[in-house]
Amino acid sequence: MTCTVLVGGGWGDEGKGKCITYLCYHDKPSIIARAGVGPNAGHSVEFKGEKYALRLTPSGFVHRDAKLLIGAGVLIDPEVFLDEMENLSKYDVKDRTFIDYRCAIIEEKHKIQDRSSDYLSKKIGSTGTGCGPANAERVMRTAKLAHEIPELEDYLTDVPVEINKTLDEGSDVFIEGSQGFGLSLYYGTYPYVTSKDTTASTAAADVGVGPTRIDEVITVFKAYATRVGKGPFPTEISQEEAEKMGLEEYGTVTGRRRRIGLFDMDMARESCMINGATQIAVTCVDRLYPRCERVREYSKLSGEAKRFIEEIEDATGVPVTIISTGPDLEDTIDLRGELL
Ligand code: GTP
Ligand code: IMP
Ligand code: MG
Repeated sequence: MTCTVLVGGGWGDEGKGKCITYLCYHDKPSIIARAGVGPNAGHSVEFKGEKYALRLTPSGFVHRDAKLLIGAGVLIDPEVFLDEMENLSKYDVKDRTFIDYRCAIIEEKHKIQDRSSDYLSKKIGSTGTGCGPANAERVMRTAKLAHEIPELEDYLTDVPVEINKTLDEGSDVFIEGSQGFGLSLYYGTYPYVTSKDTTASTAAADVGVGPTRIDEVITVFKAYATRVGKGPFPTEISQEEAEKMGLEEYGTVTGRRRRIGLFDMDMARESCMINGATQIAVTCVDRLYPRCERVREYSKLSGEAKRFIEEIEDATGVPVTIISTGPDLEDTIDLRGELL
């Protein structure tokens, strides 16, 4: 029985979607549970030549035998959720996706508030998905909950009961966070953050699992840093420098151009400490070191890339167990066997 939490170590968009897909497809947990803020997230999944951009459905959906759950801590936009249920019908998600009956609901007014507030949309650079205003209402205890919405009736469950029962039976559970450490309401670059803590402890609480039941915490970093929206970015480089390095990215949800920077070792250290990381995944190593594109064995990485990985391990004291060298699931170096 293993209960794993995966979280972002940067400002979101670390490639969690790819890592989760890989890990769930290979490890086949019985439950994949989505934690995190809500549909402000955009997780990219590429599987069998098709690309999916998910905002609420757990990224591990390609593992067909898993039950897909969304924890009470996650905000639900019913329209986004129901659209994803239709769009992913090929994977029979309707029959196996359930949301906690206590999830708070994003209403139209929250999206309007998010987009019309200069403070949120301009100063903070929010995603405009209504998450901040909906979480504010939840704190004020006026938000609607999922069990009050007839369209969601067929999808309701008690997520903590399902997860803890599955762990009691000795089966594996995978908990996926969203956003990243730098966007945490508590530990990120306040006020340029999202509307909730985004670290591993909160991800566990989001789905109703106590800290004593968590076995592994995987923190995901991209080989370089990116940030969408406003706020401090100590290792940021200019757009020209980024282009010279072949790095240019656009947001999955908002289409905004992402700011690019170098890997931030200090942030990685702090992020691993506060997340209680037991393992690190590093993505997009091929984009930083093109010679490593689609490399699937550690020994075949370039000397430079290997030194970079070792530097991360030395700085954080946490083993790098997953190295991603391309968008495809197979473009993954899996070193977890060496931990045993
Ligand atoms: P999260 O928000 O953390 O889930 O990240 P994301 O999935 O949203 O990442 P993003 O939207 O930035 O998408 C990254 C893109 O890069 C997707 O198309 C992924 O399939 C792809 N990708 C993921 N890992 C790698 C990698 O190691 N190398 C390359 N070249 N592409 C990757
Ligand atoms: P909000 O979460 O929409 O309120 O946005 C607050 C800040 O978090 C903004 O800087 C957003 O760009 C950022 N943000 C929220 N969700 C994500 C995400 O999934 N990836 C990257 N940035 C995000
Ligand atoms: Mg993303």
